Amino acid sequence: MCGIVGVLGSHEVAPLLVEALKRLEYRGYDSAGIATVNAGVLDRRRAVGKLVNLSDELVHNPLAGKSGIGHTRWATHGAATTVNAHPHRSGGVAVVHNGIIENFRELREELAAAGLVPESQTDTEMVALLTRHYLDQGLSPVEAVRKTLPRLHGAFALAFLFDGEDDLMIAARKGSPLAIGHGDGEMYLGSDAIALAPMTDRITYLEEGDWAVITRAGAVIHDEAGRLANRAEQRIALDQTRIEKAGYRHFMAKEIAEQPVVLAEALRSGGLAPTLPDVDFTGVDRVVLVACGTASYAGHVAKYWFESLAGLAAEVDIASEFRYRDPVLSEKSFAIFVSQSGETADTLAALRYAKEKVAKVLAVVNVPTSSIAREADVVLPIRAGVEVGVASTKAFTAQLLTLALLALKAGVDRGRISPEALAQRLAELQALPGLMNHTLSLGPRIAEVAEELSRAQDVLFLGRGAMFPLALEGALKLKEISYIHAEGYASGELKHGPIALIAPEVPVIVLAPRDGLFDKTVSNMQEVMARHGKVLLISDAKGVHEAGKGTWATLTLPDCPGPFAPILYALPAQLLAYHTAVAKGTDVDQPRNLAKSVTVE
Ligand code: AGP
Repeated sequence: MCGIVGVLGSHEVAPLLVEALKRLEYRGYDSAGIATVNAGVLDRRRAVGKLVNLSDELVHNPLAGKSGIGHTRWATHGAATTVNAHPHRSGGVAVVHNGIIENFRELREELAAAGLVPESQTDTEMVALLTRHYLDQGLSPVEAVRKTLPRLHGAFALAFLFDGEDDLMIAARKGSPLAIGHGDGEMYLGSDAIALAPMTDRITYLEEGDWAVITRAGAVIHDEAGRLANRAEQRIALDQTRIEKAGYRHFMAKEIAEQPVVLAEALRSGGLAPTLPDVDFTGVDRVVLVACGTASYAGHVAKYWFESLAGLAAEVDIASEFRYRDPVLSEKSFAIFVSQSGETADTLAALRYAKEKVAKVLAVVNVPTSSIAREADVVLPIRAGVEVGVASTKAFTAQLLTLALLALKAGVDRGRISPEALAQRLAELQALPGLMNHTLSLGPRIAEVAEELSRAQDVLFLGRGAMFPLALEGALKLKEISYIHAEGYASGELKHGPIALIAPEVPVIVLAPRDGLFDKTVSNMQEVMARHGKVLLISDAKGVHEAGKGTWATLTLPDCPGPFAPILYALPAQLLAYHTAVAKGTDVDQPRNLAKSVTVE
């Protein structure tokens, strides 16, 4: 999951490339680099670490030119070093790449035999060497790329620049997203529309296997077979306001705070009263929910709703496992793919696997123009707005809302939810934004608890029923931004082994609204406290009153009757992770080793 960008401009492009790369840093930030052609001369600058290091390099060693490509890297092959940073160059060609070239070892041997020896440990450099190899045989840049592409196995979004060519960029897409931007006498290229937003809203998405020859006059697009392809130019309206921090210290803090508004707007998107999705579940025998990471925990929560509210069998699978276990699918099942970015390679691959095996493929996404959205039968946008923080927050609760409405629709279609019951459930959903606002006011109290939490080495999260996936999500949030080891468990499972971990220095966070499972969860909590466990109880006033005595700390949330408490209880989990990370001084919005959108398998 790297970010690539390209500009054929009418002014110096280095600043434009850096600005576009800033908007792509969510895709990885291990190193960055740009290449330009200036008066026919190809040159490049690269730097390890965050993009700001490249900016510094460009101050000391400016790079002129009105044509350029750029890259921000999440390392797949080869450590985060300058030598491994993109653009990779060989002779008169420079290339930037997002994806994985799976046959790079064979290519490396073949090219070494031809006297072309790589300087880096990357797979991408094979693309530069192979293209150079064909250029050395006298082929033109276009023909050299046309010959190179079929030799590449795996996934790639590529941008090429050539020595001596001030008005030429070549792009190719296979498995990783790539968008062409149209300007006035200028042309652009980017991993997504967000990167190009400051320059244009006129976007053409390349399809699988497409490659494009781009000049300032426009783009000539070919499909995988080499035929001319006509791809639509769209206007992509991006909400610019939500791409700024708006005074918050971190994007994550802003996005946590936005949740009440996001949910309120999503609930009103169909008019004053919430509307159920236009999906007919009549005759559907099962739903399979497939996703990665936080999105998979949203799917896991939804499993409880589909089964309890709609009486519909629901199974959940993480995308990277799904297609390798020979899942039993039927033509009467729906497969639901949940993805904030809509570009997660594991989830996209799982969707493609399921597409011909189920009745309908639904995509619950935050980017309606994404690859997953474009390949689904039905798209259910979560309307969370642009989410920049790598740790997903508002997208998670917006996914849960969309999935809750889907489960209600399934219940109505299957005759399991009466109009009166539906009205009750919708009222409970409509109450959530207010309850969320109330919960956000716990921020200072949570920051106090987080100060102590930040000194822990290991943390456990417990929950029962639909709170169990919330425990998994809380553990993921904490570990991915504070780097503290954390695990989520079904609270009833703790006594079957993990209870051996309990010790005074191990905080145990119990997510327990006063629902039908509260008493059992409290029993498990008592088992922890009997072994001097350090319990933080997150419940409502009645729950804290009944079970808070003797705990390390408690957080009292507003009452949240009905089945949708997981949407509310996500907030304290997010705030705990956020404040713990701030206390530890880690990089909250761009944690080490991570990226916002994982577009490699
Ligand atoms: C979210 O906090 C994580 N960074 C990560 O698990 C993420 O949810 C996962 O990579 C899936 O991303 P997607 O929703 O864009 O498909």
